[in-house]
Amino acid sequence: MKKYPIILAVLLFAACPGDNVAEEYKLPEPLQTNRSIEECLAGRRSIRSFTSDTLTTGQIATLLWAAQGITDTARGLRTAPSAGATYPLEAYLVTHQGIFLYHPAAHKITLIKKGDKRVELTVACLGQVWVGSAPVSIVLCAVPERTSRRYGERAMRYIWLEAGHAAQNILLEAVALDLGGVPIGAFSDDAVSKLLDLDKAEDKTIPLYVLPVGIPKR
Ligand SMILES: Cc1cc2nc3c(=O)[nH]c(=O)nc-3n(C[C@H](O)[C@H](O)[C@H](O)COP(=O)(O)O)c2cc1C
Repeated sequence: MKKYPIILAVLLFAACPGDNVAEEYKLPEPLQTNRSIEECLAGRRSIRSFTSDTLTTGQIATLLWAAQGITDTARGLRTAPSAGATYPLEAYLVTHQGIFLYHPAAHKITLIKKGDKRVELTVACLGQVWVGSAPVSIVLCAVPERTSRRYGERAMRYIWLEAGHAAQNILLEAVALDLGGVPIGAFSDDAVSKLLDLDKAEDKTIPLYVLPVGIPKR
């Protein structure tokens, strides 16, 4: 009889993978690959078909670092350039365990929402099925005020350009890690904002780009 509670607990855990999720995860140092930048540029292709494998914490940490990681701790400068170093971008991570926010300075992620929201993200991306089939998506968002307080109306142009820099970093890093991804611009702003709880963020935040990444199905 005693073993039934254990079996039940295992079944419940298997049924609710998002239930055992910590509020925050300190990420490991980015992995070091031996691929040249030219090899990654030549190998990058939009990938829309993924195996069902999840990514390792090291791979996720490396992709987030490529997007917005700190590369000069003294001055807080990052992998991607930023107009006036105003750093408007925020990188959200969507996995089978939940939705997380990346904190570049601490190189950690914090939980925004528990549970597998990849189907909701697919719907928000107008039903593009490859979004939901990827083990992770990085959603690049921005807090426009950080840049507009210095650059006024010019700021939105800078923010979009900056999202392109960060997105390309992610896509090239994916190739270096033997992964693949696709940049997604077609989505409902309102649906992605609602999914990521952007209305609860400290400052007004808008979604810019969705990047599903996984192991390419060959
Ligand atoms: C701004 C932008 C938005 C894009 N949006 C989508 C999208 O919503 N869905 C998609 O499947 N691909 C999207 N793509 C990927 C393009 O379709 C792809 O880059 C193009 O077909 C060239 O192929 P390649 O990336 O393999 O070189 C987007 C690309 C860019 C640059």
